[in-house]
Amino acid sequence: MILPVYLYGHPVLRKVTKDISPDYPDLKQLIDNMFETMYLADGIGLAAPQIGLEDRILVIDLSPYGEKDSSCKEFKKAFINAHIIEKSEDEEIMEEGCLSIPNIHEKVPRANRIRIQYLDENLQAHDEIYEGYVARVIQHEYDHLEGIMFVDRISGMRKQLIRSKLNKIMAGQVNCSYKVKRQAK
Ligand code: NI
Repeated sequence: MILPVYLYGHPVLRKVTKDISPDYPDLKQLIDNMFETMYLADGIGLAAPQIGLEDRILVIDLSPYGEKDSSCKEFKKAFINAHIIEKSEDEEIMEEGCLSIPNIHEKVPRANRIRIQYLDENLQAHDEIYEGYVARVIQHEYDHLEGIMFVDRISGMRKQLIRSKLNKIMAGQVNCSYKVKRQAK
């Protein structure tokens, strides 16, 4: 099922999400819906707040980048109850976008390497280290679970420059191919 993507300005995107319990209803269906919604919007990652949920769940599929970067090959994962427990000091700057902030791309610094603990869709526990582009995408989606959006991580000057575009998104004035949900008035 395709779900609407909540737009920048919606309060749910500012909530710190909570771990889910093992008896969470229809978890696999939810994960399928998240992937389906993400694919239709041409995204590579989606976090639960972006579909209006305060649950600590994110999905990522980096296979479109598999040709360029072998670590992205067949990288399709759901991260449940995800917690980043280490970040490297060294950072890299690269342009990012977000399905909740259509048509805006800005350079964002991210740690080169992270360690993350999470459950997969079968609720098996993992403790893994990721680097480079994979680590970047995980950090972007993970930020959503903490109520943080990538425009929070750009310079004050850059944010000033995109302020009017952000205001338009908050008002629901967006031009995108997928279904969106703006903040309630
Ligand atoms: Ni995003």
